[in-house]
Amino acid sequence: MNTALVRKRLVIGNWKMHGTQASNAMLLTGLCAGVAVVHDCDLAVCVPFPYLGQVSASLHGSGISWGAQDVSKHEQGAFTGEVSSSMLTDFGCRWVLVGHSERRTLHGETDTLVAEKALAALKAGITPVVCVGETLAEQEAGRTNEVIQRQLAPVLALGADSVAKMVIAYEPVWAIGTGLTATPEQAQEVHAFIRAQLSELGVPQVRILYGGSVKASNALSLFAMSDIDGALVGGASLVTEEFLRIAAA
Ligand code: 13P
Repeated sequence: MNTALVRKRLVIGNWKMHGTQASNAMLLTGLCAGVAVVHDCDLAVCVPFPYLGQVSASLHGSGISWGAQDVSKHEQGAFTGEVSSSMLTDFGCRWVLVGHSERRTLHGETDTLVAEKALAALKAGITPVVCVGETLAEQEAGRTNEVIQRQLAPVLALGADSVAKMVIAYEPVWAIGTGLTATPEQAQEVHAFIRAQLSELGVPQVRILYGGSVKASNALSLFAMSDIDGALVGGASLVTEEFLRIAAA
Protein backbone atom coordinates (compact mmCIF):
# COMPACT_ATOMS: atom_id res chain seq x y z
CA MET A 1 0.00 0.00 0.00
CA ASN A 2 1.25 3.46 -0.83
CA THR A 3 0.71 5.18 2.51
CA ALA A 4 1.30 8.61 0.95
CA LEU A 5 -2.06 8.16 -0.78
CA VAL A 6 -3.97 7.60 2.45
CA ARG A 7 -2.33 10.39 4.42
CA LYS A 8 -4.49 13.48 4.16
CA ARG A 9 -2.64 16.79 4.38
CA LEU A 10 -2.89 18.48 7.79
CA VAL A 11 -2.05 22.11 8.54
CA ILE A 12 -2.21 23.30 12.14
CA GLY A 13 -1.71 26.86 13.30
CA ASN A 14 0.01 27.25 16.66
CA TRP A 15 -0.97 30.68 17.93
CA LYS A 16 1.49 30.34 20.86
CA MET A 17 0.88 33.10 23.46
CA HIS A 18 -0.66 35.60 21.08
CA GLY A 19 -4.08 37.14 20.66
CA THR A 20 -6.84 39.15 22.24
CA GLN A 21 -10.55 38.46 21.93
CA ALA A 22 -10.72 41.29 19.38
CA SER A 23 -7.77 40.16 17.24
CA ASN A 24 -8.92 36.53 17.44
CA ALA A 25 -12.38 37.52 16.21
CA MET A 26 -10.88 39.13 13.10
CA LEU A 27 -8.62 36.16 12.41
CA LEU A 28 -11.38 33.59 12.94
CA THR A 29 -13.87 35.48 10.79
CA GLY A 30 -11.26 35.64 8.04
CA LEU A 31 -10.50 31.93 8.29
CA CYS A 32 -14.18 30.99 8.11
CA ALA A 33 -14.71 33.28 5.14
CA GLY A 34 -11.67 31.99 3.27
CA VAL A 35 -11.62 28.28 4.12
CA ALA A 36 -13.35 27.37 0.85
CA VAL A 37 -10.00 27.79 -0.97
CA VAL A 38 -8.61 24.84 1.02
CA HIS A 39 -9.18 21.38 -0.45
CA ASP A 40 -8.06 17.91 0.64
CA CYS A 41 -6.48 19.29 3.77
CA ASP A 42 -7.45 19.16 7.44
CA LEU A 43 -7.10 22.65 8.85
CA ALA A 44 -6.83 23.41 12.57
CA VAL A 45 -5.70 25.98 15.10
CA CYS A 46 -4.17 25.36 18.53
CA VAL A 47 -4.89 28.33 20.75
CA PRO A 48 -4.26 29.57 24.30
CA PHE A 49 -6.58 27.93 26.86
CA PRO A 50 -8.64 31.07 27.69
CA TYR A 51 -9.69 31.41 24.06
CA LEU A 52 -10.98 27.86 23.56
CA GLY A 53 -14.56 28.98 24.22
CA GLN A 54 -14.33 31.79 21.70
CA VAL A 55 -12.67 29.57 19.12
CA SER A 56 -15.13 26.70 19.51
CA ALA A 57 -18.07 29.11 19.12
CA SER A 58 -16.53 30.75 16.03
CA LEU A 59 -15.29 27.63 14.24
CA HIS A 60 -18.17 25.29 15.02
CA GLY A 61 -19.48 23.96 11.71
CA SER A 62 -16.76 25.74 9.70
CA GLY A 63 -14.77 22.64 8.82
CA ILE A 64 -11.80 24.05 10.74
CA SER A 65 -11.01 22.15 13.93
CA TRP A 66 -9.24 23.39 17.04
CA GLY A 67 -7.14 22.35 19.95
CA ALA A 68 -4.79 23.41 22.74
CA GLN A 69 -1.04 23.82 23.08
CA ASP A 70 -0.48 21.68 26.16
CA VAL A 71 -2.30 19.31 28.51
CA SER A 72 -1.78 17.87 31.97
CA LYS A 73 -0.77 14.25 32.34
CA HIS A 74 -3.23 14.08 35.27
CA GLU A 75 -6.95 13.43 34.85
CA GLN A 76 -8.08 15.76 37.66
CA GLY A 77 -7.21 16.87 41.16
CA ALA A 78 -5.09 19.32 43.10
CA PHE A 79 -2.87 20.47 40.25
CA THR A 80 -3.14 24.25 40.34
CA GLY A 81 -2.72 25.84 36.95
CA GLU A 82 -2.99 22.60 34.99
CA VAL A 83 -5.61 21.83 32.36
CA SER A 84 -6.86 18.27 31.88
CA SER A 85 -7.64 16.46 28.65
CA SER A 86 -11.30 16.07 29.63
CA MET A 87 -11.52 19.88 29.96
CA LEU A 88 -10.18 20.11 26.40
CA THR A 89 -12.83 17.61 25.26
CA ASP A 90 -15.41 19.78 27.00
CA PHE A 91 -14.43 22.58 24.61
CA GLY A 92 -14.55 20.36 21.55
CA CYS A 93 -10.78 20.13 21.09
CA ARG A 94 -9.69 17.64 18.50
CA TRP A 95 -5.94 18.24 18.88
CA VAL A 96 -3.37 19.05 21.50
CA LEU A 97 0.30 19.86 21.01
CA VAL A 98 2.58 17.98 23.36
CA GLY A 99 6.31 18.42 23.78
CA HIS A 100 6.64 21.62 21.81
CA SER A 101 10.29 22.68 22.00
CA GLU A 102 9.30 25.83 23.90
CA ARG A 103 7.82 23.63 26.62
CA ARG A 104 10.77 21.27 26.61
CA THR A 105 13.25 24.14 26.83
CA LEU A 106 11.44 26.71 28.98
CA HIS A 107 9.47 24.36 31.21
CA GLY A 108 11.84 21.42 31.50
CA GLU A 109 9.47 18.88 29.95
CA THR A 110 11.15 15.50 29.60
CA ASP A 111 10.65 12.89 26.88
CA THR A 112 8.81 10.72 29.41
CA LEU A 113 6.46 13.51 30.48
CA VAL A 114 5.66 14.24 26.83
CA ALA A 115 4.67 10.60 26.31
CA GLU A 116 2.51 10.71 29.47
CA LYS A 117 0.75 13.81 28.15
CA ALA A 118 0.19 12.13 24.78
CA LEU A 119 -1.40 9.18 26.57
CA ALA A 120 -3.65 11.46 28.65
CA ALA A 121 -4.87 13.09 25.44
CA LEU A 122 -5.56 9.75 23.77
CA LYS A 123 -7.58 8.57 26.76
CA ALA A 124 -9.85 11.58 26.28
CA GLY A 125 -10.17 10.96 22.55
CA ILE A 126 -7.95 13.87 21.55
CA THR A 127 -5.19 13.53 18.97
CA PRO A 128 -1.81 14.43 20.44
CA VAL A 129 0.55 16.21 18.07
CA VAL A 130 3.90 15.09 19.43
CA CYS A 131 6.60 17.65 18.67
CA VAL A 132 10.24 16.64 18.28
CA GLY A 133 13.31 18.44 17.00
CA GLU A 134 16.97 19.09 17.55
CA THR A 135 18.78 22.29 18.56
CA LEU A 136 21.30 24.02 16.33
CA ALA A 137 24.20 22.65 18.41
CA GLU A 138 22.83 19.13 18.10
CA GLN A 139 22.33 19.53 14.38
CA GLU A 140 25.85 20.87 13.90
CA ALA A 141 27.22 17.95 15.88
CA GLY A 142 25.46 15.55 13.51
CA ARG A 143 23.21 14.30 16.30
CA THR A 144 19.80 15.00 14.74
CA ASN A 145 18.66 11.38 14.32
CA GLU A 146 19.93 10.39 17.75
CA VAL A 147 17.98 13.23 19.40
CA ILE A 148 14.79 12.49 17.48
CA GLN A 149 15.06 8.81 18.33
CA ARG A 150 15.55 9.59 22.02
CA GLN A 151 12.59 11.99 22.07
CA LEU A 152 10.32 9.51 20.30
CA ALA A 153 11.32 6.41 22.27
CA PRO A 154 8.86 6.73 25.20
CA VAL A 155 6.12 7.74 22.78
CA LEU A 156 6.66 4.73 20.51
CA ALA A 157 6.80 2.56 23.63
CA LEU A 158 3.08 3.32 24.11
CA GLY A 159 2.53 0.81 21.32
CA ALA A 160 1.17 0.69 17.79
CA ASP A 161 -2.50 1.10 18.73
CA SER A 162 -1.74 4.37 20.53
CA VAL A 163 0.78 5.74 18.06
CA ALA A 164 -1.62 5.07 15.19
CA LYS A 165 -3.89 7.76 16.67
CA MET A 166 -1.17 10.42 16.94
CA VAL A 167 0.45 12.99 14.71
CA ILE A 168 4.19 13.65 14.85
CA ALA A 169 5.58 17.13 14.19
CA TYR A 170 9.23 17.61 13.32
CA GLU A 171 10.29 21.10 14.31
CA PRO A 172 14.02 21.77 14.23
CA VAL A 173 14.53 24.22 17.11
CA TRP A 174 16.91 26.30 15.00
CA ALA A 175 14.14 26.93 12.45
CA ILE A 176 11.44 28.07 14.90
CA GLY A 177 10.68 31.77 14.71
CA THR A 178 14.08 32.46 13.19
CA GLY A 179 13.14 32.76 9.53
CA LEU A 180 15.55 29.86 8.88
CA THR A 181 13.75 26.90 7.35
CA ALA A 182 15.17 23.46 6.84
CA THR A 183 15.47 22.92 3.11
CA PRO A 184 12.79 20.54 1.82
CA GLU A 185 15.54 17.93 1.34
CA GLN A 186 16.85 18.38 4.91
CA ALA A 187 13.35 18.07 6.33
CA GLN A 188 12.52 15.07 4.13
CA GLU A 189 15.59 13.25 5.38
CA VAL A 190 14.46 13.56 9.00
CA HIS A 191 10.85 12.77 8.11
CA ALA A 192 11.99 9.61 6.33
CA PHE A 193 13.95 8.66 9.46
CA ILE A 194 10.81 9.15 11.57
CA ARG A 195 8.71 7.26 9.01
CA ALA A 196 11.11 4.32 9.20
CA GLN A 197 10.54 4.10 12.95
CA LEU A 198 6.78 4.32 12.51
CA SER A 199 6.93 1.61 9.83
CA GLU A 200 8.94 -0.61 12.13
CA LEU A 201 6.14 -0.28 14.67
CA GLY A 202 3.60 -1.10 11.96
CA VAL A 203 2.05 2.37 11.71
CA PRO A 204 3.55 3.97 8.56
CA GLN A 205 0.32 5.91 7.93
CA VAL A 206 0.85 8.30 10.88
CA ARG A 207 1.07 11.87 9.64
CA ILE A 208 4.34 13.75 10.09
CA LEU A 209 4.15 17.54 9.99
CA TYR A 210 7.04 19.93 9.46
CA GLY A 211 7.31 23.10 11.54
CA GLY A 212 9.74 25.99 11.62
CA SER A 213 9.26 29.24 9.68
CA VAL A 214 6.72 27.73 7.30
CA LYS A 215 5.28 30.44 5.04
CA ALA A 216 3.15 30.53 1.91
CA SER A 217 6.36 30.99 -0.09
CA ASN A 218 8.00 27.75 1.08
CA ALA A 219 4.98 25.53 1.82
CA LEU A 220 4.65 24.12 -1.67
CA SER A 221 8.25 22.90 -1.90
CA LEU A 222 8.02 21.34 1.58
CA PHE A 223 4.71 19.62 0.78
CA ALA A 224 6.21 18.20 -2.41
CA MET A 225 8.38 15.90 -0.27
CA SER A 226 7.05 12.36 0.03
CA ASP A 227 7.16 12.13 3.83
CA ILE A 228 5.99 15.65 4.68
CA ASP A 229 2.25 15.44 5.35
CA GLY A 230 1.58 19.01 6.34
CA ALA A 231 2.78 21.79 8.59
CA LEU A 232 2.71 23.13 12.12
CA VAL A 233 2.71 26.87 11.59
CA GLY A 234 3.61 29.50 14.19
CA GLY A 235 3.92 33.14 13.16
CA ALA A 236 2.27 32.77 9.77
CA SER A 237 -0.86 31.26 11.36
CA LEU A 238 -1.67 34.68 12.85
CA VAL A 239 -2.09 36.21 9.40
CA THR A 240 -5.32 35.02 7.80
CA GLU A 241 -4.26 35.23 4.15
CA GLU A 242 -0.85 33.67 4.75
CA PHE A 243 -2.25 30.77 6.78
CA LEU A 244 -4.92 30.00 4.19
CA ARG A 245 -2.36 30.16 1.38
CA ILE A 246 -0.19 27.60 3.22
CA ALA A 247 -3.18 25.28 3.59
CA ALA A 248 -4.11 25.77 -0.05
CA ALA A 249 -0.55 25.08 -1.26
P1 13P B 1 7.25 29.59 13.40
O1 13P B 1 6.38 29.13 12.24
O2 13P B 1 6.88 30.93 13.90
O3 13P B 1 8.70 29.41 13.10
O4 13P B 1 6.92 28.60 14.63
C1 13P B 1 6.96 27.24 14.42
C2 13P B 1 6.39 26.57 15.60
O5 13P B 1 6.98 26.55 16.65
C3 13P B 1 5.05 25.95 15.45
O6 13P B 1 4.76 25.15 16.54
